[in-house]
Amino acid sequence: MERTAQLTARVTERQIAYDPPSTAPWGASLHLRAARVLAANWTGTSTVPSRSLYPHQWSWDSAFIAVGLRHLSPLRAQTELETLLAAQWEDGRVPHIVFSPSVPLDAYFPSPDFWRSSTAGRAAGAPRTVQTSGIVQPPVHALAAWLVHRADPGLSRARGFLARVYPRLAAWHRYLLRRRDLGGGGLVSVVHPWEQGMDNSPCWDGPLARITPAPARSFRRADLDHGAPGDRPTDLDYGRYVRLAADYRDGEYADGDGEFAVEDPSFNALLIASEHALARIAAELGASGTARHARAERLTAALVDRLWDDASGMFLCRDLRGSPIRERSVSGLVPLLLPGLPREVAGALVGTLRGPHFAARTGLVPSYDLRGPAFEPNRYWRGPAWFNTAWLVERGLRAHGEKAAADDLRTAFLRTAGDSGFAEYVDPDTGEACGAPGFGWTAALTLDLLHDMDGAMETGEEGGDR
Ligand code: SER
Repeated sequence: MERTAQLTARVTERQIAYDPPSTAPWGASLHLRAARVLAANWTGTSTVPSRSLYPHQWSWDSAFIAVGLRHLSPLRAQTELETLLAAQWEDGRVPHIVFSPSVPLDAYFPSPDFWRSSTAGRAAGAPRTVQTSGIVQPPVHALAAWLVHRADPGLSRARGFLARVYPRLAAWHRYLLRRRDLGGGGLVSVVHPWEQGMDNSPCWDGPLARITPAPARSFRRADLDHGAPGDRPTDLDYGRYVRLAADYRDGEYADGDGEFAVEDPSFNALLIASEHALARIAAELGASGTARHARAERLTAALVDRLWDDASGMFLCRDLRGSPIRERSVSGLVPLLLPGLPREVAGALVGTLRGPHFAARTGLVPSYDLRGPAFEPNRYWRGPAWFNTAWLVERGLRAHGEKAAADDLRTAFLRTAGDSGFAEYVDPDTGEACGAPGFGWTAALTLDLLHDMDGAMETGEEGGDR
């Protein structure tokens, strides 16, 4: 309670100097409401995505949350990332969930007794002091660390923030680049749909069809205690998620020849943006970032070479174990974030965003093709619009000089986030709230769009090392 009061007091101070955008006269109150969500979800060392549905710390959620939290408290934003990175494994992986010991085991499934990180993860160097999952999530962290540093460089330097997180972030990227290039073409693969983050995207229907589901009686879902079944993945999906995770665990989390291996555009684009950010962090610490920028450019070339699809005007996923994936998902638009994309690729992505597959009535970006055979407006990643992907696309439009389109997407984001009570996701045409209310990254990225009007993301090499 005291914490909430403190945070609100800071927010009120900021408001004095804060100019709400002219397109959003409701900006100041939206700012306060978003700040209250983050205050309510703060645990003391990190932020839960949702008090009900996701009561622990999630990896990519924390990165997006830190990006917004930096506008309220740069210290908390730094702490958010430090808490996550403290749970890093010795092989460099950053686990997708860091479990809170004070939350009952049955509050979330799969719980620590499923993952057994401290025993099954011993060979891979899982930490002894904290329980985690054994899979990963998209590498947004170096990008978040750089943006958090830029919010208050004086505090960051005084605390040695970048000097402490840099070796961990470098080890994280090394893990991905060395252990997860399962296709041998330079890109990183995910070995579970939960790793890519868009759990039940129709992109995974093909690869998942090969997986024998774990029997329904062998586990109990906790998500349905909090979320409407029509908004969540099906039981059949869950059976397959459980089978894949259990097999990975039983192989002691060794990477190699699992049944699910997919190269995903969004996961790799976020790695590229983060590699550019890591180059800037190196330069800030007095080292050279040149080799990292060059690596990011090589990864960008590999992304275009391996995943670009001219016919659909977007990037597609590549199944390393099966036939080509033709489904169009928002993941294939996220690389717009990269200023270093070839001009014709960026132009085609902007055209696809405006076209019939992705131009939704709310002005947000649906997670899946509006005209696709598997489209469902409410079901998690099979159609609903999410706010983290809207933020990434908005930043991308701005990076490519599409100011009017970026302004429209930002206005749609802020209106829908506020009207939906900072929902986890919304129906892309009606804006109806779905999933969990008071969702962490929805509130955090609302704050970021209210503050950071020019979108100075620095997700490419342009601008040099400052
Ligand atoms: N997103 C998954 C869930 O719904 C796991 O990360 O629980």
